[in-house]
Amino acid sequence: MDDTYLMIPGPVPVASRILRAMAKPMISHRGSEFSRLYEYCAEGLKPLFGTQNDVYILSGTGTLGMEAAVSNFLEKDDEVVCLVNGKFGDRFYKIAQRYASPRLVEVEWGSSFDIEKVEEAITPNTKAITFVHNETSTGVKNPAREIGRIAQEHDCLLIMDGITSIGGDDVRVDEWGVDVAVLGSQKCIGIPPGLSFVSVSERAWEQLSDFRPFYCDLAAYRKSHAKLQTPYTPALSLFFALEEALHIIEEEGLERRIERHRRASSAIRAAMDALGIEMFPSIEPPSAYSNTVCAMKIPEGISDKELRGGLQQRGVFVSGGQEHLKGRIFRLGTMGNFTYREVLGALSVLEQVLYAHGLLSEMGRGVEAASKVIEE
Ligand SMILES: Cc1ncc(COP(=O)(O)O)c(C=O)c1O
Repeated sequence: MDDTYLMIPGPVPVASRILRAMAKPMISHRGSEFSRLYEYCAEGLKPLFGTQNDVYILSGTGTLGMEAAVSNFLEKDDEVVCLVNGKFGDRFYKIAQRYASPRLVEVEWGSSFDIEKVEEAITPNTKAITFVHNETSTGVKNPAREIGRIAQEHDCLLIMDGITSIGGDDVRVDEWGVDVAVLGSQKCIGIPPGLSFVSVSERAWEQLSDFRPFYCDLAAYRKSHAKLQTPYTPALSLFFALEEALHIIEEEGLERRIERHRRASSAIRAAMDALGIEMFPSIEPPSAYSNTVCAMKIPEGISDKELRGGLQQRGVFVSGGQEHLKGRIFRLGTMGNFTYREVLGALSVLEQVLYAHGLLSEMGRGVEAASKVIEE
């Protein structure tokens, strides 16, 4: 029996019916059975993105999707404003350094963007803006709608990493004017790592680069999409998983799913408040907190190693901080097909660890506060 619980912000636990679907025998990826599967998956992803644009399914993790998003529409001399307030915003910047001419707009990790400052960074030459909707490294949700408004006003392409928001939070690619949006498979849709999903607007297609990479050439994906195929051999088992995951999402209903993510993350924040643990993000308003990952400061009196090690010994895996946040924060993911029961279980184990280190005089307050949010 697997008695551990993975509560990191992806990869997430995979539901047993999805694991079973992955055990299906291979099929011909150029036959009608695959085309039916492909069509169901490509269509089924659209509501999660909030888009009428086509969504392409790439065999490769989220970073491949990010690289495709930048490299297909920008060329070496194109100025791109990269908004960075965490590790994944920085990844977009690093990708942009390979393919375009990025201008870095960085604010302290854990804070959000002052929209006026973003606007000031745009020049008449700015061709595109990159940003991360849900910055997994800090637990901050960036103001996508406002950034979208600026992109529209300055006629810039808007490239969004929605890798840890799409499928678990309210995302409106078309309404916000996002030209290229990216999702990763091991996050809110709850399948294993290995696929990324990229939506592309008409406006972006008009600016297709002539110097595209080969494996993630989105024009090749568009051509194959018309035949309900992928240009190269698709990761078939992950398509089987995706189909099952989309069935689960349909059964739950997208709105209810988003509400479950929202409620679980606010339950965790309520528990932290009750336990005297400070949230890491320094943001206003509270709606800027991520709904899919909570980042907390490691409390005084316990080290990162003791905290996460203690959780792990008791079967709960959580993530630490990345880069300069290593040793300073810990992160709990609420993504995919988790249950409230599991969230409460993990919080209870956290209380045990804190109690064992003499940081709590009694156990139960965090779980009680979280339960109240869940039952509201
Ligand atoms: C917001 C965000 N962007 C990009 C990535 C990178 O995705 P991958 O590791 O699937 O390449 C991650 C992974 O955690 C992420 O959370």
